Amino acid sequence: MSLHTESVVAIYPGSFDPLTNGHLDLIERGRRLVGKLVVSVLNNEAKHPLFNVEERMEMLREAVVGMDNVEIDGFDGLLAEYAARRGASVILRGIRAISDYEYELQMALMNRRLRPDIETMFLLAGEGNSFLSSRLVKEVARLGGNVSGLVPAAVERRLAARFSENKV
Ligand code: PNS
Repeated sequence: MSLHTESVVAIYPGSFDPLTNGHLDLIERGRRLVGKLVVSVLNNEAKHPLFNVEERMEMLREAVVGMDNVEIDGFDGLLAEYAARRGASVILRGIRAISDYEYELQMALMNRRLRPDIETMFLLAGEGNSFLSSRLVKEVARLGGNVSGLVPAAVERRLAARFSENKV
C-alpha cells in the first residue's frame, strides 16, 4: 500500500446504534492515519435498531464537528461494494477484546475475497473502552443506569428521551 496517506480514503463502517466514546476514540485516532475517513452507518432497519439511520447519522455529525477530514454517510448492501464505490482502499475496524477477533477475522477475509484491493485495518480500542459496547449502553440506559462518560452528552440525552418516550 502507498505511504502517501493523504490520498487514502478509509471507511469506518458500523451500526453505531448509538455512537459511543469508544467509536469516537477510533474516529479520532483513525482520521490521523488517512486523508479522508468516511464513517458509514449500516442501514439495518430490519434488525429494529433503537435509532433510525438518520438519527444515528445526526448523532455522529454532531460528534465530529471540527474534524475536517471526517464525513458521515449511510450504506446498505455489501460493505466491500460500497467501499469500492466510495473509492476507499481501507476499511477501518476496532478490536476490543480477543472475543471480537473471530468475527472481525471472518469479515475481513470475506471482504478481501470480494474486493482484494481493499485492506481492513484494525486499531485496538483504548484500554478504558475495552468493555464498552452500544448494546450494553442501551441496556444500562433502558434500565435507568448512568451512561455518562460512555457516550457523548448529546447521545446520553437522546437515550434518556427515547426510553422515556417508550414508557408512555
Ligand atoms: O457495528 P457492527 O454492527 O459491528 O458493524 C457490522 C458491519 C456494519 C461492519 C457489518 O455488518 C457489515 O459490513 N454489514 C454490511 C453487509 C456485508 O457486507 N456483509 C458481509 C460482511 S463480510
